[in-house]
Amino acid sequence: MSRLAKEKQFVAAFFEEAGAEIIASFQKNLTIETKSDRNDLVTNIDKQIETLFVQRVGEKFPTHRIFGEEGMAAEIDTLDGPVWIVDPIDGTLNFVAQQKNFAISVALYVDGIGVYGAIYEVEKGDIYTCEKGFGAYLNERKLPKVSSDAAISDHLLIANLSAIRINERLFEAIKESRGLRLYGAASLEYMYVATGRAGAYMSANLAPWDVAAGKIIAEELGCIVTRLDGSQMNMLEKGSSIVALPHVHKELMQNYLR
Ligand code: IPD
Ligand code: CA
Ligand code: CA
Repeated sequence: MSRLAKEKQFVAAFFEEAGAEIIASFQKNLTIETKSDRNDLVTNIDKQIETLFVQRVGEKFPTHRIFGEEGMAAEIDTLDGPVWIVDPIDGTLNFVAQQKNFAISVALYVDGIGVYGAIYEVEKGDIYTCEKGFGAYLNERKLPKVSSDAAISDHLLIANLSAIRINERLFEAIKESRGLRLYGAASLEYMYVATGRAGAYMSANLAPWDVAAGKIIAEELGCIVTRLDGSQMNMLEKGSSIVALPHVHKELMQNYLR
């Protein structure tokens, strides 16, 4: 039986509150700052939503720690105990430029193991959720497992330029596939693979908050999630990432990535 009723209810209420703040922000001027480079943006809304999350976790789960992109909670250097990993807006460039193709990503890890993941595509009103071991859902609908035998040639691939630049053999994989796509929000790109809309999504450099929820949901549905060299991810470190249908992962590893 599900053990996380309180946590699920908490995330649903947070999404409702945060989604309303984000939609209200569409009518207001944003304050936009750059971080590591001119395309690495943070807005006042990213900070506002992460601050809200920290405040709400503090009220409901005062012993839980938080690992968030905008650093609104105390720093952490271990994943011991319950840790929420949050990206208040994944796809900030899309949020600023398009007001769509962005999401809030929230995951709960306990002693380093992902137990609950939720991704809210605010503009569409779509919420993906998964308690590990209890299936994954899109809104109220239980999602089917992905196909285990579909090959690269049956699917679109999603890849960041960063991934292609460090591994030129990916050009050959893309030629073998049905074509290349790129959406600009890692959490949603994980969901495109988890729901069979693409065979794989590859990036050379993602942060834990980009993938923490997506990994739980995608693995529950039968996808394989690793670094580009096939090694396991550590949710404290940035690094490369591939999420793929099982057979596509195998083909990419055998023929293109290693
Ligand atoms: C970014 C998006 C983007 C990915 C970047 C991430 P942000 O997240 O997920 O798709 O390519 O590496 O940093 O900064 O918009 O939360
Ligand atoms: Ca992100
Ligand atoms: Ca972000």
